[in-house]
Amino acid sequence: MAQSVLILGGGIIGLSCALEATGLGFRVTVVEESGFGGQATGAAAGMLAPFSENPDGFDPFFRLCLDSFMQYPEWVREIEEISGERVELSASGSLNVAFHEADMLPMQTRLQWQRPYCAQMEWLDESRLHSVEPRISRKAIGALYCPAESHVFAPKLAIAAEEACRRAGVRLVPHAGPLSKLEVTKASGVSVTMGDAQTWRADRLVVCTGAWSGFLQEWIRVGVPVHPIRGQICAYDAGLGEVRHMVFSSQAYWVRKDDGTIVCGASEDVAGFDRSVTAQGIERLTRWSGRVFSFLEGKTPVRSWAGLRPATLDGRPLIGEVPGCPEVIVAAGHYRNGILLSPATASMVGRLLLAKTDSQGNAFSLERFNRTAEKERSR
Ligand code: GLY
Repeated sequence: MAQSVLILGGGIIGLSCALEATGLGFRVTVVEESGFGGQATGAAAGMLAPFSENPDGFDPFFRLCLDSFMQYPEWVREIEEISGERVELSASGSLNVAFHEADMLPMQTRLQWQRPYCAQMEWLDESRLHSVEPRISRKAIGALYCPAESHVFAPKLAIAAEEACRRAGVRLVPHAGPLSKLEVTKASGVSVTMGDAQTWRADRLVVCTGAWSGFLQEWIRVGVPVHPIRGQICAYDAGLGEVRHMVFSSQAYWVRKDDGTIVCGASEDVAGFDRSVTAQGIERLTRWSGRVFSFLEGKTPVRSWAGLRPATLDGRPLIGEVPGCPEVIVAAGHYRNGILLSPATASMVGRLLLAKTDSQGNAFSLERFNRTAEKERSR
């Protein structure tokens, strides 16, 4: 009989891993404390921006983002085909806008190292910027233009991924309540109890619980340093004016969605697990919205919300087996890029389930934090 895999967490990472694992022949169950796609996934602006999100230089994280980005069109096509749902992948391109000379130098440097990976990337001077994005502030002096970057409508992606999983034969268990017990034994695999009622058993466990993944430390004596960083975000009525591209400034970003809104995000607050929206957080976004698009000045967003990004200590996700406990795989800590990194994460988890990878070459393994802890213990 095929091996069984239990996936804990039904955000986009959990659903993507479930779809991959079922395609590889595993018997898959996804158990989610509340509703599918309800946490960071549902809150996300859905930007697929490996270049804009990696300004600093070529490294394994940029490579992972780029790899996932390259997989995206085909991955979305498959999810749409299996689910019969549309996810609204929009090839808008992006603009990273400069307002001061000092903004330009890092963008020019970025252009040099990123252009080999995106041949159409170019610097737009003031007049070209205003011809491609006519409603942007006249104070903008130029922009780094990346026609390749795109975005999806994250809530629709989650609905489509959930339906694709269902149709592919994944057992989906929403509203299972909080985790109350987790046991791993070499002989009988993993056993997970949710709430005070139901226990799920499987050969392998994949932990995809986003900002809540640090809980694993309570059950398995291994460091899983994931913590929440709140992102507050708001949306305007797109009838107020035109935003053609994803527009990034040093303070915020704007993206026009097919549901008739312009989404503006996002704060990066240390607020524990508090998901509330604050006047201060939204005021910062509305202030910058008015500066960058004058037609948004003084306008009230139609909606505002917040999500908790799962952050790690070095900004890279954790995708790997728990050291000394190969029955448990972690796929968490995707911080600002969970939507973008879903296909590449699912491929990596698929290879881990098939035991076709080794942690030595994995820049995202849990060993990187646990080696440090090991050294500190032996001092
Ligand atoms: N990916 C954008 C954000 O996390 O705000």
